[in-house]
Amino acid sequence: MATQTLLVTGGAGFIGSNLVRFLLAETDVRVVTLDALTYAGNLSNLADCLDSPRHTFVRGSITSADLVAHLLQAHRVDGILNLAAESHVDRSILGPRVFVETNVEGTLTLLCAARAAGVRRFLQVSTDEVYGSLGPTGAFREGTPLAPNSPYSASKASADLLVRAFHQTYGMDTVTTRCSNNYGPCQFPEKLIPLMILRARQGQSLPVYGDGLNVRDWLYVRDHCTALWAAYTRGQAGAVYTIGGGCEKTNLEVVRAILQALDRPESLIEFVADRPGHDRRYAIDASRLRDELGWRPAVDFDAGIAETVRWYLEHADWLTQVASGDYLHAYEQLYGPGGKAARTVGGGTR
Ligand code: NAD
Ligand code: TYD
Repeated sequence: MATQTLLVTGGAGFIGSNLVRFLLAETDVRVVTLDALTYAGNLSNLADCLDSPRHTFVRGSITSADLVAHLLQAHRVDGILNLAAESHVDRSILGPRVFVETNVEGTLTLLCAARAAGVRRFLQVSTDEVYGSLGPTGAFREGTPLAPNSPYSASKASADLLVRAFHQTYGMDTVTTRCSNNYGPCQFPEKLIPLMILRARQGQSLPVYGDGLNVRDWLYVRDHCTALWAAYTRGQAGAVYTIGGGCEKTNLEVVRAILQALDRPESLIEFVADRPGHDRRYAIDASRLRDELGWRPAVDFDAGIAETVRWYLEHADWLTQVASGDYLHAYEQLYGPGGKAARTVGGGTR
C-alpha cells in the first residue's frame, strides 16, 4: 500500500507534537500538521520535525472550512487525527465560548470536509472527562454514560456525539479515543504537572485545589501516542476506546513526587480554593484496547515523572520562552519575511 498522508490537527500542542514526532520516527506516513498556534501551540515543540521531508506544517484553524478542504485535496489526505482543541478546564470555566467554537464547531468543520473529500478514517482524540466524575470505586469504560461537568468536557462530549452521528448517519469511518490525564515533555505549564515543576523549581508556592485528594489516572504521553496509533490503524470503525495507564494518584501524591524529584520542601504546598464543579476521581478500564488491540502502557509513573522532571530541567530555555511569551513569535521568526525557513504553507491563519 502506498504511504499514507495523515492530517494531524493541534500538532504544535502537547500531545500533538509528541504524536507527530512518534509518527515520523516510528511509521512511514507523511504528516500534515494543522495548528492555529493559539497560546497553547508552540512551534518549538516541533523543532526537530520541521525539516522532515515527510512533514508539512500549516498554521490555520480547524474552523476554516476552505482551508481544511484545500489541505485535504492538495495533500491527498488519507486520514485525520483530530487533536486540535481548547484543552484547559480552568480556562473553560472563565470563558466557555471558544471551547464550543474550536472543539465543537471545529470538529464539525473537519467532519464535513472529511466526508466531502472521502477521507478514509477520522480519529477523534477525546477525553475521559466526558464521563464526569467517579466515586471512590469503579472505572470508566466505553459504555459509561456521558455526564460532562465542565464547559471543556461538555464541548468534548458534544464533539464526540457529532463524530458518532457522522458514523451512524453517513457511514463515515470514525474512531473515538477517550484518554485519561497525560504528562510528559512539552505540556503547557498551566496543567498540574508542568505548573508544579515550574513553580517548585523557582521556589514558589504550589497551589493545590481543595483538599488535594482528587484522583487522576496518569498516562505518560508516549503511551497515549502508541494507543492512538493502535486505534487509528487497527480500531473498529465506529468504535470508542478508553485509554489509561491504571495509575491512579491523588493530586497531593503527584505534587509530593515532583517535590521529591526536585529536592524541594513540602512546605511549598499551598491549599487554595477548589475549582468549581471539580471532578473528584477519574479511573480508566482500558481492557477493550488491551484485549482487542494488544495495547499496553510502557512507562510507569515513577519512571515517567522522573523523565518529565528531567525534560523540564534540561529545557529551561523552553520554560523561559513560554513564561515570557517569546514562543508566540516563533512562527514569524521561522516563516515570516526574512524568516529562517523559506517554506510554502497552505495559508489561512486564525
Ligand atoms: P494543548 O492545549 O496542549 O494543544 C492544543 C493544540 O491545538 C495547540 O497547539 C493549539 O494551538 C491547537 N489549536 C487550538 N485551537 C485550534 C484551532 N481552532 N485550529 C487548529 N489548532 C488549534 O492540548 P493537549 O493537551 O495536547 O490535548 C490534545 C487533545 O487531546 C485535545 O483534544 C484534548 O482534549 C485531548 N486530551 C488531552 C488530555 C491531556 O491530559 N492533556 C487527555 C485526554 C485527551
Ligand atoms: P489539570 O492538569 O488542569 O487537568 P484536568 O483538570 O483536566 O484533570 O488538573 C489536574 C488536577 O490537578 C485536577 O484535579 C485539578 C488539580 N490542579 C490543582 O490542584 N492545582 C492547579 O494549579 C492545577 C492547574 C490543577
